[in-house]
Amino acid sequence: MEVIAGVKQMQERSQQLRAQRETIAFVPTMGYLHEGHLSLMREGRKRADALIISIFVNPTQFGPGEDYERYPRDMKRDLQLAQGVGVDIVFTPSVQEMYPQGFQTYVEVEKVTKNLCGISRPHHFRGVTTVVTKLFNIVKPHLALFGQKDYQQLVTIKRMVEDLNMDIEIIGLPTVREPDGLAMSSRNAYLSPEERRAALSLYRSLCKGEELFRQGTKDAKAILREIRKIIKAQKLAQIDYAKICDPHTLEDIDEIEGEALIALAVKIGETRLIDNVILREG
Ligand code: PAJ
Repeated sequence: MEVIAGVKQMQERSQQLRAQRETIAFVPTMGYLHEGHLSLMREGRKRADALIISIFVNPTQFGPGEDYERYPRDMKRDLQLAQGVGVDIVFTPSVQEMYPQGFQTYVEVEKVTKNLCGISRPHHFRGVTTVVTKLFNIVKPHLALFGQKDYQQLVTIKRMVEDLNMDIEIIGLPTVREPDGLAMSSRNAYLSPEERRAALSLYRSLCKGEELFRQGTKDAKAILREIRKIIKAQKLAQIDYAKICDPHTLEDIDEIEGEALIALAVKIGETRLIDNVILREG
């Protein structure tokens, strides 16, 4: 496995792979890898000749007062895990090289970034789309894999790739969960044992929402009432949002017709967690 930190070196290496007619699968990450990340890498491994991942904690997607500085990092362990799933190249750029003095160009996707996480994290998606564009320009992948755990991010990146004619196939893969249902996240490392128990209310409330929908409830408010009740029963939990949206436009809906997204962001102590589920008829 190769580890490349330099932007120019990475671009040259990718150019070389393309010249050899190798297809490139790419999994961008912020590291502190877990099974959710590894599931994306395994799928990428199957779908292309070369598998490249990036590990970069991207400062522009964190707001003031958020957890950029204390975001968990463990490069040694990440490299071992990446090697274990057959990654060919790990790209580990520096902040200085990604955002040198004078940097002033951003990519912004308008409508789908406004609701949900866009409300409490107004500059977050601009940071994500900017860094993903830069990473695409450096790694030059044929396909890139993203998790449905970050559903709004996935929708935003698909929109960006289509709108800007980026010649890259975007693949979304299901959320990987702990045995008890908690969605895997690098931020779960922040949770104390008591918080870890309270965090399970996200998944439990989503299951309740799914159950009500299956039993015929189509009124979003009625479903959200039950979801909020389950989360509020945990004294360590504070809801940022609990919403039911159109899964394509991400606009709120009142009455579920066909498909819908239930999306949650909840603070457990100081840790903000997100989770979601898609409701489908039949
Ligand atoms: P990060 O949170 O490290 O996640 C990297 C990728 O792993 C994302 O596509 C995310 O959706 C996926 N992922 C995280 N947890 C998952 C889970 N439990 N199941 C399945 N997939 C999961 O998302 C980012 O980093 C950044 O915003 C990034 C795209 C790298 C840009 O900086």
